[in-house]
Amino acid sequence: MFKNRILVSLLACSLFSPLAMADAKKDTEMLKLATTSGCMTCHSIEAGKPGPDGMKPIGPPWSDVSKQYKGKPGASEFLTRVVLEGSNPYSSHWKGKVSGLSMPPNAVAITEGNARQLVNWILAM
Ligand code: HEC
Repeated sequence: MFKNRILVSLLACSLFSPLAMADAKKDTEMLKLATTSGCMTCHSIEAGKPGPDGMKPIGPPWSDVSKQYKGKPGASEFLTRVVLEGSNPYSSHWKGKVSGLSMPPNAVAITEGNARQLVNWILAM
């Protein structure tokens, strides 16, 4: 009986671990892309980290972005455009929550396809 239970859990592990590994690989890949594209100078993944000199973070933590936009129709397309073209300092979406006035256009640093991939990864957090 006990032996069977071990067998079953071993089987479960071998069935599920490739999925978990694919997820971890995707996370590593996306984090690398975000780092080489310069995003991580202004953003963190998790909320609760202060920005430079203990101020508010420069840009919103991506877990907050995910909470804000997840499940909203058109969010992926909208955010991809904001990432590529930058945000408007006169109508900040994160007023009072971040110390950065606006996000500069990132199209110089990242392709549209990669920006969309990052945005979809953020929305899936
Ligand atoms: C120079 C700092 C800076 C860099 C670099 C930067 N961001 Fe931002 N980002 C910001 C700020 C500031 C905001 C908040 C804009 C606002 O208040 O409307 C923001 C907002 C966002 C948002 C939410 C947009 C919205 O309208 O709510 C996303 C998604 C985002 N950034 C992704 C990225 C990605 C992906 C990269 C890298 C390609 C990146 N950012 C690079 C500063 C930055």
